[in-house]
Amino acid sequence: MRELLRHAASPGTSSSQEGVPALTVEDVTVRFAGLTALDCVGFTVAPGSVHALIGPNGAGKSSCFNVLSGVYRAASGSVRFGEAELTALPPHRIAALGVARTFQNIVLTRGTVADNLLLGRQTLTRAGFTATALRLPSAVREQRLHRERVREIADFTGLGALFDAPVALLSYGDRKRVELARALCMEPRLLLLDEPVAGMNTAERLGMARTIAHIRDALGVSVLIVEHDMGMVMRMADEVTVLDFGRRIGGGSPEAVQRDPAVVRAYLGGGPSSATIPAPDGPDTEQAP
Ligand SMILES: Nc1ncnc2c1ncn2[C@@H]1O[C@H](COP(=O)(O)OP(=O)(O)OP(=O)(O)O)[C@@H](O)[C@H]1O
Ligand SMILES: [Mg+2]
Repeated sequence: MRELLRHAASPGTSSSQEGVPALTVEDVTVRFAGLTALDCVGFTVAPGSVHALIGPNGAGKSSCFNVLSGVYRAASGSVRFGEAELTALPPHRIAALGVARTFQNIVLTRGTVADNLLLGRQTLTRAGFTATALRLPSAVREQRLHRERVREIADFTGLGALFDAPVALLSYGDRKRVELARALCMEPRLLLLDEPVAGMNTAERLGMARTIAHIRDALGVSVLIVEHDMGMVMRMADEVTVLDFGRRIGGGSPEAVQRDPAVVRAYLGGGPSSATIPAPDGPDTEQAP
């Protein structure tokens, strides 16, 4: 039963990067008919770091997440999480290795916050259908432990007061937070967050940035984040990889990336979908802890 609580007996305890391997992406190519969505892309997410994957619309960021989580199959290249090669694995096997993700668009089920978070425990549940249906003592005890852990994670992610609230009644920002919490309920070693603050107001974005930094600092979990809010990215990322038209055009520290002429060109000269890289002291860039 101890494995139920692997990685962190209690969120908020001291940082631990033990057992968190590096994610190494090498020469990954993804094609759709005539389109090359990713072209020999490579980068490494260091254990316990926040690594940002940025680029204009259509650059290939979500496609990359889909490869890392087993939704898309790479035409070539390699993705290693520690010793494990992920490119040939189905999504549930990748999840079982400790890779959890959120989606660009909110994907929640009906029911309460607790119901959604308990879904995140499915891969960790040992009791079979019959034992659960018959309410055998072992199954009841396991369910209780899952519920306690889910409650801890709700508190950790600022959802404690909303634990029994129907998700349909939550604000957009809180629903995005439920997605993050549900991914955390899988006890991941690597979290893939696809635009976690998109559509949020400034206060919600700040709160989310704080939670993500706290996940890295308190739990030692690696975070790979796709985000268009450049202020937030530049403040919180330890390292940045930049994609444009499926290619890696830059990477390094946030400071180095902001000064890289190829990156600036991609954002300033990429046509209608491009965006500027604002200075990190803009209105949306309040300091994340
Ligand atoms: N399943 C698919 N079938 C065909 N083309 C796809 C598919 N998924 C992605 N693409 C294409 O691959 C390219 C990269 O898309 P992707 O969604 O990865 O970009 P993105 O960087 O996440 O963009 P955004 O910032 O707008 O979310 C786009 O041209 C997109 O239309
Ligand atoms: Mg995307």
